Amino acid sequence: MANSVIALYPGSFDPLTRGHLDIMKRASRLFDRVIVSVLLNVEKRPLFTPEERIEMINEVTASCQNIDVETFDGLLVDFATAKSAKVVVRGIRAVTDYDYEFQMALMNRRLNSTIETVFMVPALEYSYLSSTLVKEVCLLGGDVNGLVPGNVETRLLAKIRNPNQDVN
Ligand code: PNS
Repeated sequence: MANSVIALYPGSFDPLTRGHLDIMKRASRLFDRVIVSVLLNVEKRPLFTPEERIEMINEVTASCQNIDVETFDGLLVDFATAKSAKVVVRGIRAVTDYDYEFQMALMNRRLNSTIETVFMVPALEYSYLSSTLVKEVCLLGGDVNGLVPGNVETRLLAKIRNPNQDVN
């Protein structure tokens, strides 16, 4: 489609939370196509491999025809250009997110002024969620039920209890 609007929803998604899923679904209702863009981050030490993260996202978005999942490295704006995406979606939870998101949005605009950042707000019940907190709670034996999709909870528990074992 010539006028279709493609949006990237970038992040580490290590792992995806219900907050991320909420934003993915909201974005899929706004844009013609949403590409969940998983950063291949060499600096951070992720708990899940990119393949695991992609698989988990694919599983929970299977019913959304216009959501795809891909990995990227390098500059986000270069990936957006390669995918003909004009929009970058970022979820904003509280004011504390704003500084970082504001910096990123303006840096991305400086790098490529044709790409717009759109901030979206998740459902209130997910507004305090982060992948980092979920991992910490799970590692310390807390209950993460309801904070992440069921498939993610299963994999989190398996990874933390049997770090060297594959869940499949
Ligand atoms: O889930 P995160 O860690 O908040 O996602 C951050 C992400 C992936 C959006 C950001 O780190 C990113 O876009 N990285 C790609 C490198 C880049 O383009 N940097 C310059 C933009 S500020």
